[in-house]
Amino acid sequence: MMNANYSNNIKSLEHKLKERFYGEATGHDYFHILRVRDLALHICQEEKGCDKEFVELLSLLHDVNDHKFQNETSDSLETIVAKFLEGFHLNKEIQNRLVAYIPKISFSKNKDEKEDVPLAVKIVRDADRLDAIGAIGVARAFAYGGKKNQPIYLGDDTTLPTTIQHFYDKLLQLPSFMHTETGRKLAKERFNFMEAFLKQFFNEWMIR
Ligand code: ADP
Ligand code: NI
Repeated sequence: MMNANYSNNIKSLEHKLKERFYGEATGHDYFHILRVRDLALHICQEEKGCDKEFVELLSLLHDVNDHKFQNETSDSLETIVAKFLEGFHLNKEIQNRLVAYIPKISFSKNKDEKEDVPLAVKIVRDADRLDAIGAIGVARAFAYGGKKNQPIYLGDDTTLPTTIQHFYDKLLQLPSFMHTETGRKLAKERFNFMEAFLKQFFNEWMIR
C-alpha cells in the first residue's frame, strides 16, 4: 500500500490535522501530533512485525478524541475518525481497528496497564509518552498548567496541585511504563534532563 495514493492520503490527513490543531495551546497541538508520528515510526523500525502504515495512521489520529477538544462537538469517535479519513477508501477493518485502538493510547485513561494491547498501541503509547517528557515535556507541562490556571509551584504548600507536583505524580514515572526497548532508551535520556531541570529549578527557587 506504500504508493502515491498512500502518501497523498497522509498529506491530506496532515492538512486536516493542521487545520484542526495548529496553535492549540495545551500542548496537544499539530506539532505534538507530528512528533508522536515521527517517534512512533522511529520505534516501529526497531520492532519486528510492526505495520508502518497502520502505526502512522494511529499516531496521527491518537489525540482526535481528546476530551480537551470535545467541547464543541459531540460526534462519536467513529464519526470523527471517518471525517478525518474521508476519501481515503481505507479498508473498513483498518478504520474499525483505529477506532478501537485510539482510546487505548492515553496514559491517564489507561491506568490498568495489565491489559495486553497490540504492538501498534504499545508503540504509539511510547511515542506519546516520550513527548510528555524531556525538554518538550517540560514546555508542555507548563503550557498545560498555565491553560488550567495551575500554579507553577507553591513551595511547602501541597494542598493545591502545581505543575512541579505533576512531575512527581506522573512525568518522572513515565520511563518505567515504556513498552519498547527503543522507547526505554529515549525515555532514560529525557528523564535525566528532567532531573537536571528540577535540580536547577529548586536551586533557583531559594525561598525557605
Ligand atoms: P494522556 O496522554 O496521559 O491522556 P494528558 O492528555 O492528560 O495525557 O496530558 C498530556 C500532556 O499534558 C502532557 O504533556 C502532560 O504533562 C500535560 N499534563 C496533563 N496533566 C497535567 C497537569 N496536571 N499539570 C501539568 N501538565 C499536565
Ligand atoms: Ni498525545
